[in-house]
This record gives sequence, structure tokens and C-alpha cells, in this order.
Amino acid sequence: MTARRKLIAGNWKMNGLKADGLALASDLAGRLKGAGVVAFDMLVCPPFPLLFPVHEAIADSPLALGAQDCHAKTSGAHTGDVSPVMLKDAGCRFVIVGHSERRADHGESDAEIAAKAAAAHKEGLVAIICVGETEAQRDAGQANAVVSTQLKGSIPEGATAANTVIAYEPVWAIGTGKTATPDDVKAMHAHIRAELDGKIVEPDAVRILYGGSVKPGNAAELMAVDNVDGALVGGASLKADDFWAIGVSC
Ligand code: G3P
Repeated sequence: MTARRKLIAGNWKMNGLKADGLALASDLAGRLKGAGVVAFDMLVCPPFPLLFPVHEAIADSPLALGAQDCHAKTSGAHTGDVSPVMLKDAGCRFVIVGHSERRADHGESDAEIAAKAAAAHKEGLVAIICVGETEAQRDAGQANAVVSTQLKGSIPEGATAANTVIAYEPVWAIGTGKTATPDDVKAMHAHIRAELDGKIVEPDAVRILYGGSVKPGNAAELMAVDNVDGALVGGASLKADDFWAIGVSC
């Protein structure tokens, strides 16, 4: 069996001003440095304006930095957008693409998400590609089919276990306090693992994260599920104690 190191990723979404972000990131960086060898990688994904200051604050720690989205082009007339090369310049190693909030709020298609992931790869960034079904789709028995379609359309040519992470986030579990059961998570992650065959180089080594109301109280159970290689955490990543507790539950 391939050993996959857990990745605990914090998606701060549209939360935090400079002082809050710096305090949170510095706290986590200090804990990571102080802990020495840990069983997980830790990543924070602040809003764009905080990337440069947070990078400076955590530069001498193992805490990794990522962004929450990117454009598929390097530069040009794209008002309000940020390109992968800019993210790299800001110190990012990761970028989330295709989060359900981007798919819903900005109508992002699988093809656009694949283009963003490919652009991220070109700059040497790891793309965290998000997939997940809505509650109505799950109730209609379509969860596996929806996720298969998203994977097929969102994973670009050239994806490998080194440059790509998949995050399974059932839309109905995001920010709701509802969490998928360990059995449901196990079944979906096994389905995703099988679907990666032929789409990503070294599919067995790809990390598949679970996201959706992960908290200190449910993290250990979720992180112990087969094929769960970490978590993409929203609300609970905004408090250093909670996010750290999720990490050490691995
Ligand atoms: O990307 C993380 C996410 O959407 C889950 O959010 O607040 O349910 O942990 P939350």
C-alpha cells in the first residue's frame, strides 16, 4: 500500500484582516516548529491580500502557504483576477481550484477548473481540485456520478500525484455542521481513488482530502477512514487551537 502523508489544509475563505491573519499564521508556524517531527503537512490558504505578509511571517517554518483560486492566464486584461505566477511570487506552493463556492458563486465549469489547475502546474504549484455533490444530488442517488463527471472534466493533462491533490467536499456538509458519515466518506473516497486511474500519474499516491464541517471533535474518526489523506477545513481553520487539534488527530 502506498504511504500518503496527511495534509491538513485551512481554507480561510473571505475571513480575516491583516492582524488576525498574521496572528493565526504565526501561532500555527510556532506550534509546527516547536513540535519538531509531526505526522502531517499543514497548509493555510488566506485571502489574496494576506498572502505576502503571511508568507513573510511563516517563511522560516514548515507551514505551507496556498491561495483559494487563480486565473488560467499568466497576465493580461482580467480585472480582479490573480494568476498562478503572482501566487508563486507571493510565496504560495498550493492553490485551491474548483471550490463549490467558486462553482456556485462564479459559475465555474469543469473545463475552466482544469485550465486553472493546468496553469497552476505550469508554475510549479500544487492544485487542490475540489469536487462534491449537492444534497439534492445525493438524495437522488447521483453522488458518485456527479463526482465522476467533475473529476473527468476538472483534472488536466499532466496531473500527477506530486502536483495534484483532490478534495472531496460534499456541498451539504460545508459550513452546516453536518458531516458525512465515515461509511459515506469511505465509499466516496474509494470511488474517487478508482476514478483517478488513467487520469493522474501515480493514482495510488494522490492525496484525497475530506472537507465539510471537520472539527476537533470529529477529525480523528474521519482521518482514520481508508483513503482519507487529510482535511480541507473552513470554519475550524480560523482558530489556531481547533486547527492544530485537527492536525494532531492524524
Ligand atoms: O474548503 C473548506 C470547506 O468548504 C469546508 O468548510 O466550514 O465546513 O469546514 P467548513
